[in-house]
Amino acid sequence: MNKGALALLVHGGTENWSPQRWKARFDEVCPDRSVLLLPDASSDPAEVHYAAVWKPHPGELAAFPNLRVIFNLGAGVDALMADRSLPDVPLVRVAVTDLTARMTEYVVLHVLMHHRQEPYLRESQREKRWAPKSQWAAGAVTVGIMGLGTLGADAADALRRLGFRVVGWSRSPKQIEGVTCFHGKLQLDAFLGRINILVCLLPLTLNTRQILNRGLFEKLNRTSPLGAPVVINAGRGGLQNEADILQCLDDGTLGGASLDVYATEPLPVDSPFWTHPKVVLTPHNAADTDPDEISKYVAEQIRRFEAGGALENVVDRNRGY
Ligand SMILES: NC(=O)c1ccc[n+]([C@@H]2O[C@H](COP(=O)([O-])OP(=O)(O)OC[C@H]3O[C@@H](n4cnc5c(N)ncnc54)[C@H](OP(=O)(O)O)[C@@H]3O)[C@@H](O)[C@H]2O)c1
Repeated sequence: MNKGALALLVHGGTENWSPQRWKARFDEVCPDRSVLLLPDASSDPAEVHYAAVWKPHPGELAAFPNLRVIFNLGAGVDALMADRSLPDVPLVRVAVTDLTARMTEYVVLHVLMHHRQEPYLRESQREKRWAPKSQWAAGAVTVGIMGLGTLGADAADALRRLGFRVVGWSRSPKQIEGVTCFHGKLQLDAFLGRINILVCLLPLTLNTRQILNRGLFEKLNRTSPLGAPVVINAGRGGLQNEADILQCLDDGTLGGASLDVYATEPLPVDSPFWTHPKVVLTPHNAADTDPDEISKYVAEQIRRFEAGGALENVVDRNRGY
């Protein structure tokens, strides 16, 4: 039987998103299927049954009349949700142990960086200044995680095991061992009022756009040894109001920020974030998608789907994530 083709549309622009690298991986894990690296003028769009994509151009996926499933090669689907011509077929996102573990590493690293006063200690080192400040226990700090999904729940568990007090917030009610869980708009203020280090792992949707703003920062807790609260955003840049973050860092509403994502990426060279003394900046690589892992995940889902099984991690288009 002639198996439907898998079309690859990868427009990441960074080393990890090299289309040739993804093609080589998919050729290996789908040996009996043609894998098309698009645009490919010689291919017939009607032969394509599956699309594996990262940031496809709006309208690109509408070209395939026999598409059965779209696989987004990352966890966040906000770029796809913005495409009004997106075919009405199941949209599957990435939720795999490898990516989750990478994000938990990032979150733990940055929570510890602020908790252990690393920005101050590095500055002291540069100035050859022997000036230790007293250090406090993890249990003196409450970390709040916005988004208790695949990534947020794992990070919460790791932080709890390090001894931090952990609270979390989601859309629907949750129960996570050792984590005080809040949900919905009505419980947002109670959640914020406890937090000394805020970690944002929300998806970008109509309901979460610019949720990280001055009004929210002002509700965070200021009574821990850290003093002013810290924000860590590894969700999406659209979740943050960047002017508010800068002003809040400058006027002391926030004590520091770790940012992995930005409204405009790559971050423009004239962005004040690059040189701000209270900002720890990374270039949207908190949790890279690994082609080896993700190609296997997609190939396995196609195999199961064609055998009549259910797809996993299908996006709810009404919720937007
Ligand atoms: N920086 C990076 O390298 C990187 C890498 C991977 C992912 N990401 C980002 O991380 C995001 C989260 O990934 P994930 O796999 O954890 O997603 P997920 O499993 O879909 O979890 C999303 C969480 O956010 C909550 N949520 C969504 N809308 C909400 C709202 N309006 N109010 C309160 N809570 C809300 C959900 O609540 P419910 O549980 O009630 O549904 C859920 O707990 C992705 O969307 C992506 O943007 C970034």
